[in-house]
Amino acid sequence: MAEPALLREARLDPAAAENRPVLVVDLGGQYSQLIARRVRECRVYSELVGHGISARALRARRPLALILSGGPASVYAEGAPRVDPELFELGVPMLGICYGMQLMAQELGGRVDRTGQSEFGRTELRAEEGALFAGLPAVQSCWMSHRDSVVAPPAGSRVVAGSPSTPIAAFEHLERGLYGVQFHPEVVHTPHGTDLLKNFLYRVAGAPPRWTAAAVIEEQVDRIRAQVGAEQVLCALSGGVDSAVAALLVHKAIGDQLTCVFVDHGLLREGEAEQVTETFHGHFHVPLVHVRAEQRFLRRLAGVSDPEEKRRRVGEEFIRVFEDEARRLGRIRHLVQGTLYSDVIESGGGEDGVAAKIKSHHNVGGLPERMEMRLLEPLRMLFKDEVRRVGEELGLPDAMVWRQPFPGPGLAIRIIGEVTRERLETLRQADAIVQAEVRRAGLYRELWQSFAILPAIRSVGVQGDERTYAYPIVIRAVTSEDAMTADWARLPYDLLETISSRIINEIPAVNRVALDISSKPPSTIEWE
Ligand code: XMP
Repeated sequence: MAEPALLREARLDPAAAENRPVLVVDLGGQYSQLIARRVRECRVYSELVGHGISARALRARRPLALILSGGPASVYAEGAPRVDPELFELGVPMLGICYGMQLMAQELGGRVDRTGQSEFGRTELRAEEGALFAGLPAVQSCWMSHRDSVVAPPAGSRVVAGSPSTPIAAFEHLERGLYGVQFHPEVVHTPHGTDLLKNFLYRVAGAPPRWTAAAVIEEQVDRIRAQVGAEQVLCALSGGVDSAVAALLVHKAIGDQLTCVFVDHGLLREGEAEQVTETFHGHFHVPLVHVRAEQRFLRRLAGVSDPEEKRRRVGEEFIRVFEDEARRLGRIRHLVQGTLYSDVIESGGGEDGVAAKIKSHHNVGGLPERMEMRLLEPLRMLFKDEVRRVGEELGLPDAMVWRQPFPGPGLAIRIIGEVTRERLETLRQADAIVQAEVRRAGLYRELWQSFAILPAIRSVGVQGDERTYAYPIVIRAVTSEDAMTADWARLPYDLLETISSRIINEIPAVNRVALDISSKPPSTIEWE
């Protein structure tokens, strides 16, 4: 049979292929997002779509290939997710993964059974030469997670891999461009998983590896110019990587039509405010309003100990200060936000353009409607690691590109009890030592977050011949993928010793250092 039409077109016109996505049809599996990320790591643009999408709507997106994700259900379960059967007739190369493979087999005349042979975890796979396994070892390990199995592949397809308990672990239907794998090529526990995806993308789908940071920048610059025209744009800088990259992208597109407002609430880490102003104003020459508002924030926080109340007050004050500045600047029509693709997916706004929910105060929630501004979200289709790559490409310094996440309310929620200038100063000094030593030990990037906490209690110590009665500092360092769960980091004893002795020797208000060895759950990463 001839090559599928869309595929032929892609080969003929490589430029057109650049903007066409590989769509991951989400069947409810926990790894759906990860599949899209892996495809993008292969430098091919990919997006998630819900499984309810019609073949017609899918066709309109002109995908280079489709990937059916895994899912928790059995194909025979009531209400199990299905896809529009016409998807299989589109002539678009398709890869089914786990449940996606089973669904494909069932829809295309094969059979799926509960064989009684579940497989969970690392499994040995025997593969044959073919399209998917071209150039890969005949015996390799892979990650399985399934109860049902395909017991008869779709008519006309060939079985190309099996494991001891799953004889049909992969099939290929070359003529129709349909491929299925029972294991998960997207997880790191399948060492050749990325190679398999590359085979599917490059060889089968003819998808060119052109999705790079430079290409993203070029595309976004055009898009921003078209959206903004000659109007004025505002961006709130927080010091975090998302707002920094969003601002630089917009600045590259429209230059001085962009003004950045940096609300310095005085709750940042040591040196961060200077870093923001030096980078944006000094280095990139972005028009920047630096609002020094520490006093206003401290006044609002005086006497407040309740964590939620602190958050609320910081958030509210932030919006007030920002709004004052925005008014002063005159007529502004657009507001930049560093919304990421993961926020868009979580809020269910991926396909139909529903605005992503506004997640935290430094995203200045509520402001766009009140001031009749339109949102400009240049990172809306990017994952965090892609934002970092774009930041690097734009020349943002490493210290900002690789900055660990930092909460909007800043040090206010790392001081237990009332926030005062004196306590802030103590925590900031201790935190700077933790940062410096973690970096010196080469661990900064490996850790999700590492910081100091100031519980506002005192304990007795002895320094020199004198009794002291001073604050303790708690060291908190965690590893995590996404902050939903986290483990306390096993920091080397030598590093802990250095941090502890530096903090106690250099900060008179502190006489004790403790280490937080709780994971999340049941604890949270922050103390408030
Ligand atoms: P928890 O403490 O809930 O934190 O385990 C999870 C992640 O979220 C960050 N965090 C915040 N970020 N505003 C923010 O922008 C906040 O109010 C806030 N509270 C927590 C926290 O640093 C961690 O990365």
